[in-house]
Amino acid sequence: MTLSVRDAVLQRRSIKLFNGQQVEKEAVLGILDEAKWAPNHGNRQPWRIVVGAGEQLPKVHELLKNLAIPKWEELSEEALATQMKKFTLAGAYAFVLVTEDVRQKERLEDYAAASCYLQNVQLLAWEKGIGTCWKTPGFLDNPKFREALKAQPHERVISMFQFGYFDELPKARVRKELTDFVTEFEI
Ligand SMILES: Cc1cc2nc3c(=O)[nH]c(=O)nc-3n(C[C@H](O)[C@H](O)[C@H](O)COP(=O)(O)O)c2cc1C
Repeated sequence: MTLSVRDAVLQRRSIKLFNGQQVEKEAVLGILDEAKWAPNHGNRQPWRIVVGAGEQLPKVHELLKNLAIPKWEELSEEALATQMKKFTLAGAYAFVLVTEDVRQKERLEDYAAASCYLQNVQLLAWEKGIGTCWKTPGFLDNPKFREALKAQPHERVISMFQFGYFDELPKARVRKELTDFVTEFEI
């Protein structure tokens, strides 16, 4: 059954606890392809995605371990496995880079466009029963991470984006009332 756009917007939740089932690379690539219909100024399509799925996952985990758990050698195997769960339970990865234009207006437009792109990804994945989470861990600007993604000087890494299957739907966090963020134009 296909989901209406409205249902996808209202029902989608960020998934923080995945169940460990891998998401097929083809499914990820299909979603990333369809999401390209996101609005973006000047058709610059300022995003670039590095996918880690299937046979690449162990290498992704190794990289994330080194970046996120600096003294992992000192941990017991069990403690390390526990700390790594937030990475290993995800079913696939997309590392997202955006062009950083030297012009302020274009730079803002490009980040906004990349955000539109990623929301398309989230909604398209949700429609397929695949959960996602846009994550911004502290190591996004780490030179070792940038090097692994072959990030160019004009590119900024904006997300460690996780895909995955899940067993429990998280509760929606309360949103503001319409009247708390919308007012009518007054002269
Ligand atoms: C730009 C951005 C950065 C985010 N970074 C993180 C993050 O680092 N870690 C995390 O757990 N969730 C992150 N999230 C997910 C939000 O926390 C999540 O959207 C929020 O909990 C609202 O839940 P919902 O998406 O289920 O409505 C991020 C979302 C956005 C849009």
